[in-house]
Amino acid sequence: MNRILITGALGQLGIEFIKYFTKSNIFVLATDIRECKNEIPCEFIQCDVLEKNKLNQLVKSYKIDTIFHLVAMLSAKAEKHPFKSWKLNIDSFQNIIEVCVDNEIKKVFWPSSIAVFGTDSKLGCVPQNPILNPSSIYGITKLAGEKLLEYSNKKFNIDIRSIRYPGIISMSTKPGGGTTDYVIEMMDSAINKSKYVCFLSKNTELPMMYIDDAVSSAIQLMRADKSKLSVKDSYNVAGFSITPEILKKQILKNGFKIDVEFKPDFRQEIANTWPKKIDDSKAKLDWGWSAQIGFEETVKKSLKF
Ligand code: SER
Repeated sequence: MNRILITGALGQLGIEFIKYFTKSNIFVLATDIRECKNEIPCEFIQCDVLEKNKLNQLVKSYKIDTIFHLVAMLSAKAEKHPFKSWKLNIDSFQNIIEVCVDNEIKKVFWPSSIAVFGTDSKLGCVPQNPILNPSSIYGITKLAGEKLLEYSNKKFNIDIRSIRYPGIISMSTKPGGGTTDYVIEMMDSAINKSKYVCFLSKNTELPMMYIDDAVSSAIQLMRADKSKLSVKDSYNVAGFSITPEILKKQILKNGFKIDVEFKPDFRQEIANTWPKKIDDSKAKLDWGWSAQIGFEETVKKSLKF
């Protein structure tokens, strides 16, 4: 990992990976379909990953050796644009794989999601390898992506590694269009002293993770010895699990006043097919994963933001 291309670089994860790699003096080329309006500490080129030729040209001219492919349309937005999300999430990944084959790039990081699970996946605490029956289009694209990466690694002798992320919590760069976004929205409302209408019911339990753990899990996995990686599709990783009600109580405990009304919408149906807890023992065993930041610390850090 010496010369890294990050796609979807202006998103929630991308910005944090840029910070991490540039601090470690690793060259980063950041790309995003959006214009970059703020200063970032690396090269930036506006690029649509669906344009394979442009991607290929960038990879060649910047002598890229590793790709973090973070482009995706998240669950709630994808439900409104199912075929657009299929095209973006899957075709962009295919482009990345083709570019890797053309340029002999071996190492790729690609985030999967808890959305690959479904009602048959033992949602109380999902094991690494349960029945996967996602019902959201986002989950379906992530499951197809997992299969595509497993196939491509074998077929083309590349090394795409992946993590099934839970909801990621970060206040600096916010996610958009996800089902787990309520966490950030509720804390934002507490900071801004505004009422919050929560789109999930108060007892909907979902797994979450603080952004620093999300970044370090990917770095740890990418640096792990390949011979130790027994999971061929995507690793389960866990942080902590909460409900909107538990979050509300924790915000109050931190001295913030917050008025929350619970008004579940279509996102409740998505959440009902996602896990409450995650069994990440394979990641622990294979590459020494362990989350460092718990729920209380996450809320404290986020409210101070
Ligand atoms: N955070 C994502 C979402 O809510 C799940 O991967 O869509």
